[in-house]
Amino acid sequence: MVAVKNLRKTFNSLVAVDDVSFTIDSGEVFGLLGPNGAGKTTIINMIVGLLKPDNGAINVDGSDDPTRIDVRMRIGNAPQAVALYESLTARENLTFFGKVYGLSGRRLKERVDWALSFARLEDRAKDRVDTFSGGMKRRLNMAGAVVHDPPVILFDEPTVGVDPQSRNLIFDSIEDLKRQGRTIVYTTHYMEEAQRLCDRVAVMDRGKILDLNTVDNLIEKHGGKAVIIAIFDTPPQDLSQFPGTIEGNTLRIETMQPTQDLVNLAQAGLKFRQLRVDRPDLETVFLNLTGRSLRD
Ligand SMILES: Nc1ncnc2c1ncn2[C@@H]1O[C@H](COP(=O)(O)OP(=O)(O)OP(=O)(O)O)[C@@H](O)[C@H]1O
Ligand SMILES: [Mg+2]
Repeated sequence: MVAVKNLRKTFNSLVAVDDVSFTIDSGEVFGLLGPNGAGKTTIINMIVGLLKPDNGAINVDGSDDPTRIDVRMRIGNAPQAVALYESLTARENLTFFGKVYGLSGRRLKERVDWALSFARLEDRAKDRVDTFSGGMKRRLNMAGAVVHDPPVILFDEPTVGVDPQSRNLIFDSIEDLKRQGRTIVYTTHYMEEAQRLCDRVAVMDRGKILDLNTVDNLIEKHGGKAVIIAIFDTPPQDLSQFPGTIEGNTLRIETMQPTQDLVNLAQAGLKFRQLRVDRPDLETVFLNLTGRSLRD
């Protein structure tokens, strides 16, 4: 549905996107995960035809020219910098975007109603955008990307600066779109979001894709060991049959097979005050791939 090959974009001497290739299947939620300046927005802007790559090829929905009007009609883009008319109401904004995409009459009204409900903003439809919270603006910004019913939708950091309630609404609405079979590109620097929403994730840093896979596969490949922590009321006499180290009342096992080790511990009939497994996550993956934390 979306394919980019050997994509490259420089700004003067800065290589913002460096030989990036990937293919996104129809109906997939594809994540671009990376810190500030990784090149996520630059990739999005090239996919939607706002920026011309120095090098490489882009194919969206069968066309290699995303600037063509008929291709643009099949793409929705919710930009990172919210793009709304503050002095217009929510409904007026969506009506404007719908008209830009050639909608009119009953179809326009139906789509605007749909987009308002998508953004969970039906009851604020008649209010001006400058009375909205940051989260409500984000949701309306997203609705503007789907009003023309595109099969391919790009959301660039849709949860930055939003309150937890809007964040959950945003997740729900993206999951709705996924159920409808739309193809979604989602950029974020929050690994929990990528982990929850995305079928596959490209981990990016400094213009490059470091690896691309399902979250589970990324964690399996780059996450390293899980850590089992077992705390006893009184440590058993003999723990020599278990790997790991005991310190005071706490047994700590670093392991690639946490499930099997837990079964072994359970079968030994030991009594724990607390038992927990710290599994590696995407944060660990990023750390292991770059030597840096994603939160730096
Ligand atoms: N128009 C531009 N002119 C000059 N440099 C640019 C321009 N757009 C982006 N850059 C630079 O390209 C690099 C990648 O930027 P980009 O916005 O794609 O990153 P990002 O991954 O979206 O980051 P963020 O998480 O902060 O949104 C950065 O170093 C940025 O400063
Ligand atoms: Mg960006």
